[in-house]
Amino acid sequence: MSRYNIAVIKGDGIGPEIVDEAIKVLDAVAVNSDFELTYDEYLMGGCAYDVTGDPLPDETIEGCKKADAVLFGAIGGEEWDSLPRDKRPESGLLRLRAALGLFANYRPVKVYDELIEASTLKPEILKGVDLLVMRELTGGIYFGQPREKGDDKAYNTMVYSKDEIVRIAKEGFEAAMKRGKKVCSVDKANVLEVSQLWRDTVEEVAKDYPEVTLSHMYVDNAAMQLVRDPKQFDVILTGNIFGDILSDEASMISGSIGLLPSASIGGKVGLYEPIHGSAPDIAGQGIANPIATISSASMMLRFALGESEAADKIDAAIEQVLKEGYRTKDISDFGAKEVCSTTEIGSIIAEIVCKNA
Ligand code: IPM
Ligand code: MG
Repeated sequence: MSRYNIAVIKGDGIGPEIVDEAIKVLDAVAVNSDFELTYDEYLMGGCAYDVTGDPLPDETIEGCKKADAVLFGAIGGEEWDSLPRDKRPESGLLRLRAALGLFANYRPVKVYDELIEASTLKPEILKGVDLLVMRELTGGIYFGQPREKGDDKAYNTMVYSKDEIVRIAKEGFEAAMKRGKKVCSVDKANVLEVSQLWRDTVEEVAKDYPEVTLSHMYVDNAAMQLVRDPKQFDVILTGNIFGDILSDEASMISGSIGLLPSASIGGKVGLYEPIHGSAPDIAGQGIANPIATISSASMMLRFALGESEAADKIDAAIEQVLKEGYRTKDISDFGAKEVCSTTEIGSIIAEIVCKNA
């Protein structure tokens, strides 16, 4: 019997509600398996700041480093928005990504047929979309030095070293080899030097992957193409800030940002989180959609723990729930047989996972 220890960071806003549902489903899938899961909870974000004065206490970093994987909800909220930047909840998350060396952020986007009407885009544009945003996560303008906020002038620096580009490009090509064998590298090479290096380097890495078709796109065009014809994409390989923006845009392809999971890997321990934020406006109301987090837990089983059978069971249960018409409020206008609370959806998915065991 394998035993895995999961570091759990619930965070702020809807974070605790959605993570609780993911744990419910993980426990359900563990029952009829040959592995056992244990959890240790740690603080990060606004809640960590309130208790310790630091959005990422050392204890959290240490706990995550010794776990087999990290499951994370969301952080942030208005009450912490006026804090100095290094005390803000977001700084906690950025520092954790850096501390764990999580340079590769997988953000898969797929369309559930049952929800095709939930998107603002036309069904014929969406049917069959299956793409992956491969976002570089520990470099670029998010981390570049120098950076400064003055009263009359402020600046940040978009910087990538060749090594950083090589390693994320390899990740993108490796992912493409297991999928549709296409990489579209997104940059702004017509304006930015850093993007020119990005493009040249991606070209070099591509030589090791002759089976993969590489194309390049400027980020402004990519933003347009994503809603014009998302089916043209397989793997979108891009830097930190472009990936942040494009993955939010891409989430609308699936109909709700409450559906999309992510995996951040690269170091010894990976972090699994929904791509959405902490949604303080709906926190505590029991209406948040836990599917993105449950789906992130499935990615954790697959990527970090090698338990792909268990991950398949969770993915199938999510699909079944949607097929049977159970919906949280965000997607309740589309094929809902029953509008469910956060905990109800979690329980139904957990039940299906048990039944199909
Ligand atoms: C994301 C979020 C974060 C980011 C924030 C919360 C720092 O938007 O994971 O996409 O910008 O990376
Ligand atoms: Mg984002």
